[in-house]
Amino acid sequence: MRNFTNVNDIGPLSEALSKARFVKENPFADQALGKNKTLLMVFFNSSLRTRLSTQKAGLNLGMNVIVLDINQGAWKLETERGVIMDGDKSEHILEAIPVMGSYCDVIGVRSFARFENKRYDYDEVILNQFIQYSGRPVFSMEAATRHPLQSFADLITIEEYKKSRRPKVVMTWAPHPKALPQAVPNSFAEWMNAYDCDFVIAQPEGYELEPQFVGNARVEYDQNKALEGADFVYAKNWAVCADANYGKVMNTDRSWTVTKEKMALTNNAFFMHCLPVRRNMIVSDDVIESPQSLVIPEAANRVVSAQTVLKEILLSL
Ligand code: CP
Repeated sequence: MRNFTNVNDIGPLSEALSKARFVKENPFADQALGKNKTLLMVFFNSSLRTRLSTQKAGLNLGMNVIVLDINQGAWKLETERGVIMDGDKSEHILEAIPVMGSYCDVIGVRSFARFENKRYDYDEVILNQFIQYSGRPVFSMEAATRHPLQSFADLITIEEYKKSRRPKVVMTWAPHPKALPQAVPNSFAEWMNAYDCDFVIAQPEGYELEPQFVGNARVEYDQNKALEGADFVYAKNWAVCADANYGKVMNTDRSWTVTKEKMALTNNAFFMHCLPVRRNMIVSDDVIESPQSLVIPEAANRVVSAQTVLKEILLSL
């Protein structure tokens, strides 16, 4: 695997899960693989879990790790071609990317949707520029439309906790005061569609995701109905995806918050969220603190997903 940006890059999920199990049980078995190899992690946006778990994954593999926060200490980057650079942006990304590539062997990139232009976001312009111009393998640490390391960790967690061969997994929209990208729900849907489960998306009218991500999921506009018999409840907010109101918050209906009463409708479901989460907007205190909450083991599995992906990239060098 050279680049990792979506579920198709990892190969058959059963094999990926088996590789992840090996990595989890033997975290230091491949230290020689990363010796004298440098991982560069480039952040255009904030992060806690991705930053720490991916760094830990690189260190477990024996790599040297460099972290660059573009917005803190680097030159302000111009990302559009053809712009007369007479403003506050001192460097063009088309020079910065190959320079970054010259200092490392593998690059991870975090670059969220900007919500200024849907086409620009959905074309993954920043991530694809890194793939095209860095000369290095590139993996996504959350891009505009997908967060594959998160989804892989989510899948590993579901595999570890599932009690039936084909669990019912419900991804439910939940309210949030600010506009959040569709990367996590898009990606989770993409991975669940590739996995053997009964996958349902619960959302208010107007919050439909792009068909390529919805895939074969059943879309349900009645959250209570969707939650009936669920084995896993995956809560997430996302802003409107439709062209007309792209990136807008059209609904903050608190009746969609995942509460104890909502969880009572399920098959004693596990609660999942990628974090960070706004308590008592997305999920009530008692649900996230309950024994059924998997948010901490789910976050811990981010090391496993990142290490499994990095290992595959190192094997391809
Ligand atoms: N879930 C996740 O990606 O968390 P961070 O934004 O803190 O990295």
